[in-house]
Amino acid sequence: MFNRSKKGRLIAIANQKGGVGKTTTAINLSTAMASVDKKVLLIDLDPQGNATTGLGIDVKNRNPGVYELFCESTAFKKVVRDTIIPGLSIIPSTQDLSAIELELVNMTDRAKRLLQYKDKLIYGYDYIFIDCPPSLGLLTVNALTAANSVLVPLQCEFFALEGLTQLLKTVDRVKGGFNKNLIMEGIVLTMYDRRNKLSSEVENDVRKHFGKGVFETKIPRNVRLSEAPSHGLPAILYDLQAPGSQAYIELVKEILGKR
Ligand SMILES: Nc1ncnc2c1ncn2[C@@H]1O[C@H](COP(=O)(O)OP(=O)(O)O)[C@@H](O)[C@H]1O
Ligand SMILES: [Mg+2]
Repeated sequence: MFNRSKKGRLIAIANQKGGVGKTTTAINLSTAMASVDKKVLLIDLDPQGNATTGLGIDVKNRNPGVYELFCESTAFKKVVRDTIIPGLSIIPSTQDLSAIELELVNMTDRAKRLLQYKDKLIYGYDYIFIDCPPSLGLLTVNALTAANSVLVPLQCEFFALEGLTQLLKTVDRVKGGFNKNLIMEGIVLTMYDRRNKLSSEVENDVRKHFGKGVFETKIPRNVRLSEAPSHGLPAILYDLQAPGSQAYIELVKEILGKR
């Protein structure tokens, strides 16, 4: 079933701030990656389940999902669902996930619930994206512990860099502990508004600090990206020509070009 000669990459999409574009990035990056014939899995680690909704997974079709995988040791293949996008599967989030942090605290391998499936993940898929919740709690730590790299969406706003220090500290802690090979995939600027001076100021700041650690591709502020989820569709299917959709296609090219 698995191609043992080829290893996939597991990329955690993380930022403990809410509303910075993690989920939008997870959905559209996964879709764009699947559209270039990669086998892709999206893991929705956010109890709010926005990525699950955004990919059109019906509420009645969400169990078993991440909760059962982490806490009930449900078989891996039972939690994976096809999506309407060829080549893209998802492990759905459910409401149960909101209580999971409390349950995990009592487990000795609490940071390694996802790590135990790493072989299944990297030998089963070319790319695995994890949509992290807006916190640095155990769910995000599980993502970082299993991941090859971290992709950080950064909203072009005044306090953008605030909080990044804390995220990078957490990444370093996980590196020092469970996952010494963890690297930064890169920072991607989101909701970029070229008519707004603040956006270019934030961009200059971030590029000065992080240099090549920042993707060239910027995701513009684009209403099509925010409309798409209510139709249960990735923006790339909802409106392929929209600037937001095109930006995520560019981002995929940049990620593929790096290796
Ligand atoms: N580039 C963008 N342009 C316009 N709206 C966006 C963009 N990226 C995200 N949004 C909207 O902003 C809100 C927060 O984005 P989301 O991806 O859910 O962030 P997070 O997962 O970090 O909380 C959502 O309503 C989403 O549709
Ligand atoms: Mg989200």
